Amino acid sequence: MAPRRHILVVGASLAGLRGCEALRREGYDGRLTLLGAESHEPYDRPPLSKQLLAGSMQPADVALRRDPWDDLALELRLGVRAERLDPNAREVTLAGGERVAYDGLLIATGATPRKLRGVAPLEGLHVLRSLDDALAIRRALEKGPRVVIVGGGFIGAEVAATCRSLDLEVTLVEALAQPCVRGLGETLGAVVADLHRDHGVDVRLGVGVQAIEGAGRVERVRLDDGSALAADLVVVGIGVVPEVGWLEGSGLRLRDGVVCDASCAAGPPEVVAAGDVARWHNPRFGEEMRVEHWTHAVEQAEACARQLLGAGEPFAPVPYVWSDQYDRKLQIAGRVGDGDDLRVVQGSFEERRFVVIAGRGGRLSGVVGMNRPAPVMRWKRRIADGISWEEALAAAEA
Ligand code: NAI
Repeated sequence: MAPRRHILVVGASLAGLRGCEALRREGYDGRLTLLGAESHEPYDRPPLSKQLLAGSMQPADVALRRDPWDDLALELRLGVRAERLDPNAREVTLAGGERVAYDGLLIATGATPRKLRGVAPLEGLHVLRSLDDALAIRRALEKGPRVVIVGGGFIGAEVAATCRSLDLEVTLVEALAQPCVRGLGETLGAVVADLHRDHGVDVRLGVGVQAIEGAGRVERVRLDDGSALAADLVVVGIGVVPEVGWLEGSGLRLRDGVVCDASCAAGPPEVVAAGDVARWHNPRFGEEMRVEHWTHAVEQAEACARQLLGAGEPFAPVPYVWSDQYDRKLQIAGRVGDGDDLRVVQGSFEERRFVVIAGRGGRLSGVVGMNRPAPVMRWKRRIADGISWEEALAAAEA
C-alpha cells in the first residue's frame, strides 16, 4: 500500500480525536486534519448529563485533550461542516464549497438527537447532546423548574438522577414497558425504574407523548393516555440518529449508519468509520452492530487508525457501557436483552448491588452489574473468551 500523505478525520469528538492520537502513536507522520462542525474543542460527553449539569464541573473540565495540541501536529478546523464526499475523487466538500483532498479518511461524525414528531420548538424544550445543550439546560435548572423528561434511556435516566440531586420535581416518561430496555431488557429495566421511584421520580411507563403545549414556552406535556403533566422544562432523550446526511449520494452504503466490513472499512479501504456513526460486522458476535458507547468510540477509532496504516484486522470488541445514576454504577458488557437466560450470580436486585449474566444461543453473551465493577470486568473477559452458557454457570458456582 502506498504511504498515506494526508489523512482527513471528519468529526472532532471522541472517536475523531482518539483516531488522530492513535494515528500518531502508530507512527503516522504525514499531514493530518481534524474537522469539527462545533466551535468547541473536542470535549467529553459523559459529564454533560451529570457533573456539568449539576454545576460541579465547568466547560474547561470536560476538555478531551489534556496533552499539548502541538504534540499531535494536526490542523484542527472547528466550526467547519463537511457537506459531501466523493470517494472516487478522494475529496470532501465543505460548507462554503472548499474541497479537501485526502488519501485516508476517517468518518467520525457521530449522531444527532431524534426529535419528537409534530412538536414545534418552544422555550424550555431541550435535547441533551452537545456542551451548548447542557449549558442551556443548566441555566434553566437554576430557576427551579418542574422537569419532565421524555425517554427513559441513558440520557433520561441520568438527567432524572441529576435533577433529583438538585431537589427538583421530576417526571420520567418512557414509551416502553420499562426504562433502558434497549440495553438491558425489561427485567433489568424494572430495577432501574424502581431505583428512580425510590429517589422520588414520578415514573410513567408504557405511554408516549402526544403534544408539548404552551404559549411561547413549555407549560405542559400531554400524554397519549390523555393525562397532562405541568412542566417548565422538558428534556427529550428519545435516542439518536447517525449523522450521515453528508454522505448521501457518495456511493457508500448507508443503513442506520455507514456500513463497514469487519475491519471498519466503509467500501474503499482508505475510508473507515468509527463511533456512533459506524455500523460494522462484529465477528465475535456474528452480527452487524452500531454501538453508541464511549469505550467503543475509542476502541473503534484505534482499529480504524490501524486499518488506515495497513495493519487492520477484524474489529471484534465486547461492547461495554456504564451509567452513573444516584450512588449506583450500572455497567453492561456484551449483549443483554429480553429472551436471554438471566442468572443473578452475585448480590440481589433488592440490595441494588448485583451481577447478572446473560446467555444467548448457548453462549455467555452479556453481563450487567450494579455497584460491582470488578466482577463485571471478569465476566467481560469471559464473554471475550467465548465460553458456553454451561461453562458460565459452572464458573458462577465455583
Ligand atoms: P436511548 O436510545 O438510550 O434511549 C431512548 C429512550 O427513549 C428509549 O428507552 C426509548 O424507548 C424511549 N423513547 C423513544 N421514543 C419515545 C417517545 N416518543 N416517548 C417516550 N419515550 C420514548 O437514547 P438516549 O437516552 O436519548 O441517549 C442518546 C445517546 O447517548 C445514546 O447513544 C446513549 O447511549 C448515549 N448516552 C450514554 C450514556 C452513558 O453511556 N452513560 C449517558 C447518556 C447518553
